[in-house]
Amino acid sequence: MSVPDTVLTNDDLSAIVDTSDEWIRSRTGIRERRIASDKETTATLGLKAAQRALEVADILPVELDMIIVATSTPENIFPSTASLIQSWLGANKAGAFDLSAACSGFVYAVDMATQAIRTGRIQKALVIGSETMTRVLDWSDRGTCILFGDGAGAVVLEASPVEGGVLSAVLRSDGSGSDLLGIPTVGSYDMAPNETLPDVHRMSKMHMNGGEVFKFATRVIGESINQALDLAGLTIKDLSLIVPHQANLRIIAAAARGLKVEENLFFVNLDRYGNTSAASIPIALVEAIQQGRIKENDHIAFVGFGGGLTWASMVVKWGAPKPEDRTKALNRQRREAIYAFAFWRGRLLRLSRQINNLIKRIRPEQGRMERLRRRVDRQDFK
Ligand code: UT7
Repeated sequence: MSVPDTVLTNDDLSAIVDTSDEWIRSRTGIRERRIASDKETTATLGLKAAQRALEVADILPVELDMIIVATSTPENIFPSTASLIQSWLGANKAGAFDLSAACSGFVYAVDMATQAIRTGRIQKALVIGSETMTRVLDWSDRGTCILFGDGAGAVVLEASPVEGGVLSAVLRSDGSGSDLLGIPTVGSYDMAPNETLPDVHRMSKMHMNGGEVFKFATRVIGESINQALDLAGLTIKDLSLIVPHQANLRIIAAAARGLKVEENLFFVNLDRYGNTSAASIPIALVEAIQQGRIKENDHIAFVGFGGGLTWASMVVKWGAPKPEDRTKALNRQRREAIYAFAFWRGRLLRLSRQINNLIKRIRPEQGRMERLRRRVDRQDFK
């Protein structure tokens, strides 16, 4: 995982909008969140998380077959944030694309990578959830700007003869709720002929109907976890941990009541990061592992919900391969060398394209001068 260093507390926020630490803590459970610096973007945060994931998995970037970035705050519509990260990593064998399913994006992306591995098409995939939500917040809307933060988390998935990994997944969407939560951008509707120019101030800012999203979230969490458990042939009693999307402590408490389980079956770290959208589940997963809450062969579940509307649950039998099981002794220096090579390769390619373009711009002039000189030699003054 990778989160920015800068912390924004509830008290800091109360200097920006009409709110208080007491209101935010009691209504959401959030105490503080991280804010990206001017130099940080979704891709740079995602890159750091990716490099750490490759280190934990002890594989080289050139071994990756696929990179998926789940995000609602990409650098561009295209090129994808995944392509930027692919090039910075030097993952020259990997396909790369962004996946847009808002806060459910990470679970969707893990399922896409899992299916690609299960068919035998690919062996190793990198799945990243990365967001710079604070860039798309309306800082005058106290109903949304207090909720979100920035960060990234990443996992490596790989084919294994050992039974386990992703056992089941339930991915769902209900686009009739598309008006409840979103980040409008300049898209095909706004750019259609005869349309008036879009209101740029409204564009790229998040809006949300908090109450409706709250009701939707509390309904689908329990429902979809039960569906994923059914598909895996398990019951809620088999789960040792649920890693939910970190949106609001009251949503998690309501889901726990609905499932008739103790609240501490759900891992919570939203108090320190707020809602980091597609990054919240992988960041929570990393901290759950660090805190010893997930052990080999544990059955755990992920559940995400958000814009679309979308929601997704997944049951996983945890089993990370140990580096000592590997035949190749891979090391940090080889990864560092590949990152350095990728960095300079990208720079040199861009530079050589710029020089080529410059030459092309100069050459036509040279050609014209040459033709003129020949006409003068031939005394052809027509
Ligand atoms: O990741 C995507 C998924 N998103 C979510 O899961 C978000 C789901 N929704 C929520 O978490 C909650 O609906 C919120 C935290 C956004 C809002 O909590 P709420 O308990 O539903 O509050 P509310 O919108 O019903 O507002 C209650 C009162 C209102 O005042 P009045 O009309 O009762 O006088 C609001 O104006 O609280 C007021 N209020 C605030 N007061 C202080 C709303 N936001 C704030 C604030 N500080 N930041």
